[in-house]
Amino acid sequence: MGTPFISLLEPTKLDGYDRGKPHDQQPASIPRVFMDAMEVRESVFVREQSVPLEFEHDGDDARSLHWVVYASVNQVVAQERRDAAGNVVQPRRSSTRTQPIGTVRLVPFPHPPHPERGGRYVDNLLQNEAELASSLTASQEARVSAAQPYGRDRPTTLHDGLEPYVKIGRLAVVKEFRGHRIAGQLWAAARAWLENNQDYFNPSVQELGLDALKAGVNDVPRWNGLVGVHAQEDVVPVWERWGFQVDEGMGRWWEEGIPHVGMFLRLKLKDKPITIS
Ligand SMILES: CC(C)(COP(=O)(O)OP(=O)(O)OC[C@H]1O[C@@H](n2cnc3c(N)ncnc32)[C@H](O)[C@@H]1OP(=O)(O)O)[C@@H](O)C(=O)NCCC(=O)NCCS
Repeated sequence: MGTPFISLLEPTKLDGYDRGKPHDQQPASIPRVFMDAMEVRESVFVREQSVPLEFEHDGDDARSLHWVVYASVNQVVAQERRDAAGNVVQPRRSSTRTQPIGTVRLVPFPHPPHPERGGRYVDNLLQNEAELASSLTASQEARVSAAQPYGRDRPTTLHDGLEPYVKIGRLAVVKEFRGHRIAGQLWAAARAWLENNQDYFNPSVQELGLDALKAGVNDVPRWNGLVGVHAQEDVVPVWERWGFQVDEGMGRWWEEGIPHVGMFLRLKLKDKPITIS
């Protein structure tokens, strides 16, 4: 494997993405980096962890940032051939392909409420809610999930239910490439981006107006370094290595049959220089 490199895709329209089809059968308008992120997610979550393909892409993908790690991988395309006397008649041939091998996404606030303790979620919906939502089309559902209003959530151990937080997720590294700090590089890239773009998601009152934000002038949400993750229970030690802590008050729930817990980390934001106008 050659030296990996990372690409970043900022929030972008993904209109026309068909959740029922794999990444290589999507319209040409879908950005390459997103297709590559889906290639990894299909390999890890759909094929390895048996998450249904149609649940893998969701309404948060368009408003999220996506990082994808690529590696140059040498592949044998034709084996060496020898004649009866043992002479090489065709040498082994190989070619180098740039392959997406890992991905992670960062979802801006606001978010749907914290999952219910013991809840069983399928395609982001608590199972009894899923019956109510079954009348929505996929695109209506995507819009609903992407447009949660700002509001109070239930307080947990590490989140007061009000503070805006960004959510890191869909962390995946293709099986053959694990154990080489690829996930660590993805988190380092996302973390560095957050430290350098701390105001990126803060809504602008001038642009949106208070009505759209559903907030008073003194409580326009501002990000203060809080990062959350819905972690698969088996992977908690990975997030702990990076400083995330399990939120005991959030409890445990199931997403597509996989047990999850909530974790948070607070990044220290840079002090901003005071400007005098
Ligand atoms: C979790 C996953 C992304 C880790 O990818 P990776 O590239 O192998 O991870 P890294 O090599 O960067 O490891 C990061 C750290 O976690 C540790 N680690 C990795 N996998 C671990 C595991 N399963 N249990 C405990 N520690 C683990 C590593 O030792 C490393 O620690 P170090 O830096 O102190 O040595 C990968 O195993 C994966 O894709 N799993 C399936 C999908 C998944 O579960 N995603 C998480 C959803 S919340």
